[in-house]
Amino acid sequence: MDVTVAILQGIWLIFPAYVAGPGAVLIGGGRPIDGGRIHKDGRRYLGDGKTWRGLIGGVTLGVIIGLLQDFTNGYSEWPEMSFGSHPNNLVVIFLLPFGALMGDMIGSYIKRRKGVERGQKAPVLDQYDFLIFAVILVAVLQWPWFFEHYLDGFAILGLITIIVLTPVLHRITNIIGHRMGKKEVPW
Ligand code: CTP
Ligand code: MG
Repeated sequence: MDVTVAILQGIWLIFPAYVAGPGAVLIGGGRPIDGGRIHKDGRRYLGDGKTWRGLIGGVTLGVIIGLLQDFTNGYSEWPEMSFGSHPNNLVVIFLLPFGALMGDMIGSYIKRRKGVERGQKAPVLDQYDFLIFAVILVAVLQWPWFFEHYLDGFAILGLITIIVLTPVLHRITNIIGHRMGKKEVPW
């Protein structure tokens, strides 16, 4: 694999995780996942920003995008940019957006425990919670795939690329979401 392919596949294959958050912003609302419950520290478990509709909608959008990508992969000139063979491809395509939104919830849980209100900034956590958990989940449950596409040889450049790119894309999508009136704050 050459350097260019390693970087491109790193970005391409993480896409289902990237669209989960924006999907939750677009589709979310309604009943909060924590049911409004209060932790013993007097604050919400997660807060009104984490809803069932956002979780299910965001995962669904990520899976749809992943399936479309998987379909087009069959026609591309880069067979290495693949979610893997059946049925592991479906597992990876699900784990990426699911892990992303689990990470997002863990991020909110940590923010609430630290007394950071819904929508208030938490640097690093806001930018990376979703990526870290998506990567951990895939690495643990689909290790051979993760090793081949994000660690082995030049493939690690793909991992480095998404680590560098994530806060940039996060900022851009949040500004867009804010301007669209979908997010109260531009972060
Ligand atoms: N959202 C949702 N369900 C989710 C995740 C996100 O409905 N599981 C929607 C909510 O409308 C939320 C918005 O997407 O307000 C933005 O998500 P995020 O920035 O993660 O939430 P915040 O409201 O900023 O809350 P927190 O401080 O907990 O991150
Ligand atoms: Mg937020």
